[in-house]
Formats: sequence, structure tokens, C-alpha cells
Amino acid sequence: MKKITFLFSFISVFSFAQQNPTGLVTSKAMVVSAREEASKIGAEIMKKGGNAFDAMVGTELALAVSFPFAGNIGGGGFMVYRKANGEVGSLDYREKAPLAASKDMFLDKDGNVIKGKSTETALAIGVPGTIAGVFAVHKKFGSMPMSEILKPVIALAERGVAVTQKQEKSMNSYRESIVKINGPTTLLATNFKEKDTIKYPALAKTLKRISKNGRNEFYKGETAKILVDYLQKKGGIITLEDLSKYEAKWRKPLQFTYKDLKITSMSPPSSGGICLAQILKMIAPYDLAKMGHNSPEAIQIIVEAERRAYADRSQFLGDPDFVKIPVKALLSDAYLKDRISTFNVDKASLSSEIKEGKVTYNESTETTHYSIVDKFGNAIAATTTLNDGYGSKYYCDELGFFLNNEMDDFSAKPGSPNMFGLVGNEANSIAPQKRMLSSMTPTIVEKDGKLFMVVGTPGGSTIITSVLQTILNVYEYKLSMQEAVNAPRFHHQWLPDLITFEPSTFDNNTINKLKAKGYLINENPTPIIGKVDAILILPNKDLEGGADFRGDDAAVGF
Ligand code: GLY
Repeated sequence: MKKITFLFSFISVFSFAQQNPTGLVTSKAMVVSAREEASKIGAEIMKKGGNAFDAMVGTELALAVSFPFAGNIGGGGFMVYRKANGEVGSLDYREKAPLAASKDMFLDKDGNVIKGKSTETALAIGVPGTIAGVFAVHKKFGSMPMSEILKPVIALAERGVAVTQKQEKSMNSYRESIVKINGPTTLLATNFKEKDTIKYPALAKTLKRISKNGRNEFYKGETAKILVDYLQKKGGIITLEDLSKYEAKWRKPLQFTYKDLKITSMSPPSSGGICLAQILKMIAPYDLAKMGHNSPEAIQIIVEAERRAYADRSQFLGDPDFVKIPVKALLSDAYLKDRISTFNVDKASLSSEIKEGKVTYNESTETTHYSIVDKFGNAIAATTTLNDGYGSKYYCDELGFFLNNEMDDFSAKPGSPNMFGLVGNEANSIAPQKRMLSSMTPTIVEKDGKLFMVVGTPGGSTIITSVLQTILNVYEYKLSMQEAVNAPRFHHQWLPDLITFEPSTFDNNTINKLKAKGYLINENPTPIIGKVDAILILPNKDLEGGADFRGDDAAVGF
């Protein structure tokens, strides 16, 4: 990693021409996802003549098989698309709070948050949206029969998936909590080792029923009944009515400009698009390229913009079907200019002194991301999640999948941090049928009116800042797509008032310069930040994949 840092410093000082591609380059189509098996299924679908939307359905469900850590049919997500003709849109298949959910459901009689109740109990589970999502996409844009798309996914579940070194490690660290909830006979109780093959016969059976009976199999059919029975036995509150009421929603994505880029990202109930727009607009007047890649000066201005955007996130953002969000005001140039005007180049701002801005209402940690471009020029950025690794750890052995613990993304109590340390307020309080605020940031970037980049990542609260840095790495620092993904990352989210750097990636000189200005640095052992999967459209129209080496991610194309 040290070598990588050195390479980037070198690039930032001496090179202003776009770096040659270093990731996989293909001429027609590509999928970049968390597992090669899923990317292959998506790419094969496109090779057979399917479009990016068909490939999205196949990739999403293949991740549910090959990457149970975050891929899912028991969770939800967001998808942003740009069609070859330039039309953009987005789909919200985020989980919803069950009808029996209530504002104080995670508090004790004194109004304090009960530790673990929103993450480790069956009450943590939100009504899943993934199957509704893929069927909504298929209905609107699919070109191949669903049964044909599902065939290789079901075959993969039956054939099984090889365990990677990273997966062995992740299963080792989560096994105890999975067994505690599901008992010693549950599928992942087995001490699987690297290169073992895990078969998923129960999931294959569930997917076969879905293939035969359609979307309603999950929300109204036998699968729904088995799921509700399982959840009720575990103390959950999701009912058949909750499942039958669930609908994915087409939403207008958020669009904004940064210099000569036009960026399309997810609107609420994800905070991703708004926060990304706020940060980019606040840093736009500064010459980041001149400051140098990951230089103390560049880190400082990015951190100050992040601090201010995350403060607004905590106050104003929630499910737009329930709360009025002042989107125009939050993104107005005058507001953001004023917001960053308190930035002092000599001294860190303090988060205790940065509250949400004054705006007027004048207008009506685990996840996975994949990026797709097809040979017709359609592009898809989709991020999907169970929230925590293996979600709530509740695994319905009869159906073969994990359930999310997305209820923790609500603000259980104003000012009380969730598992990502994010604080929230009334806008993100719990209510029946409401969607919890997300940080997922599936994003599509255009340059000169043409498709330029498709990007996204997992990482809870660090999703927004990882997407931000990847865009800046390519656009400001001219890194190739793969190098932009590889580059070391840092993160600030207002509270806690700390800059987190990826382990052993930033030199002491940089960190000491920031400390001298009063920045507080996260000195604890820090995790990797994000696992970005992205595609860059090169000047000759070839595609370059950026598959994150931090995971088992892979680009596959033709
Ligand atoms: N569960 C992580 C997110 O949606 O932001």
C-alpha cells in the first residue's frame, strides 16, 4: 500500500494527461461487481443479446447467490440508469418499516436506545424490496424472458460457489453470531475453507418458484408464507400484509453539474445524491488538481465540505414520501457558498460549531455495488444491501437467504448514532411504511453530453465520500479507472469529528500537517473504506473497468 501512495504522489505532481487504462478494457459491454461469478452471468446475458437491464436482474440475483455477505433477496437497494438516448431515471427498492413499527420501538421506558435491538433482533428487519425491484426493472425495460435470465442464476446456486480467502475470513468472523440466531444446523454454521464449494439448494428452490410464479411468489405466495412464519417465530413483526403492500418506486434521480460534468445520482430516501452534490459544489471553486492528489491541502477542503454536508444530512434528509426535504435550498449555489465561507485554510473547523445550515422550506457499513454498460450504450449503477454483513444474521434455512437489519438506518432517537456512527433527526424517525434514510450513491457521470463514468460502492456512511473521491481521482487527477479505484481513501462525516484514513496508506507528513491545523484523526485501527466498482468510457468508446482489489471484485466484459 505504501508503494501505491508513492505512485499517486508522483502522478499528482508530474502528470496532468489522463493515465492509460490499467483495468480490464473491452469494446462493447461490461459488468463490474463484487464477485466474478455475478459479473460473468451479467456479461453472458448481454452476450446473448440482452440489454443492461436484463443484465442488472441477472447480476443482482447472482450476487444474492455468490455474495451472501451483502448480495440479497432479503434486503433492498437503489438503481440509477442512463439509456443510450440520454434519458435518465432511478428505481427505489429500499426496504420499508413494517406496519407495526413505531417511532420508539428501539427505546427503553426511559427513552434510551436499547443496544442491539435495531441491529441484532428480528425487529431490525425491514420489508425486503429486492425482488420487487428486479421485476419492476424487467417489466419496464427487460428484453429477455425472466426465466432465461434466472436460469444461470439458479444453476449457480445448485452448482455452488467456491469460497475465496476473503470470504473464509468474513464467515469466520460472523459464524458465531449467525449460529447464535439460527442454530448449529444452519448452512453457514459449517466451517467452510478457501476453495470449498458452497451449494445453495434452498435458495435455488426459492428462485425456481419465483421464476415460475413471478414477483408475487415472494410477496403473496408460498415464499411469503414461509418467510412470515419464520419471522414471527423469531419475534419479528413483518406480516403478509406488509409483504403484499410492498412496491418498488420509480423516482426522479438527482441531477447536478460539477464543472463540465453532469452527474446523475440517487435522490432521497438516499442521502447519496444530495450529499455528493453539496460536497462537489462546495469544493468546485478550489483548484484541487494544483493542490495535488491526497495532499493535506486537498484533504482539508474536501473534509470541510464533507463535514457541512453530513451535518445537513442528519437534520434534513429522510423518506420524501413522509417528510418535506428542502432539496432546492440545500443545493442552491448561494447557500453552499455561504456554508463553506466559514472554512479557514489555517485551522480546522469544529463539528461542534457546525450545525445544519439555515434553509427555508420553499418547495413543494454493508452493501454491494455493481456497474453495467451494454453494447447499445445503456448504463446502470445499482447498489444493494442487507445493511450489516449478512444483515441481521437471521437466515431462513428453508428459503435460503439472509434478512436485512435495515431498521438501524432509521434514527432510533434524535442525536443517537446508528451502527455507522451517523446521527439523525425527526426527518428520519421511524414510522410504519416509511423508508429509512440511506447513503447509497449509485451514480452516472456524463461529460460533454456523453456517458463518461458509472460508479458506486458499499461502505455505509463512507459510500458518499468514496464515490466522491473516485470521481475526483479520474476527473481532477487524471487517474485511470482502475487506479482511481485503487487509490487510498479518507473519510469525514461531521460526527464523530474525526478524519479516518485507510490503514497504512497516508504518510505521516500529510497526517501531521493536518493535525497541526487542529484536525482530529481517527487513531484506532481503521477498516478499508468502500469497495468501488466502476466503468469509465474511454475517448475511443472502449470501456475500462475499475474492480476494487479490497474485495473479490471483478470486471467481466467483451
Ligand atoms: N445500509 C446502508 C445504507 O443504506 O446507507
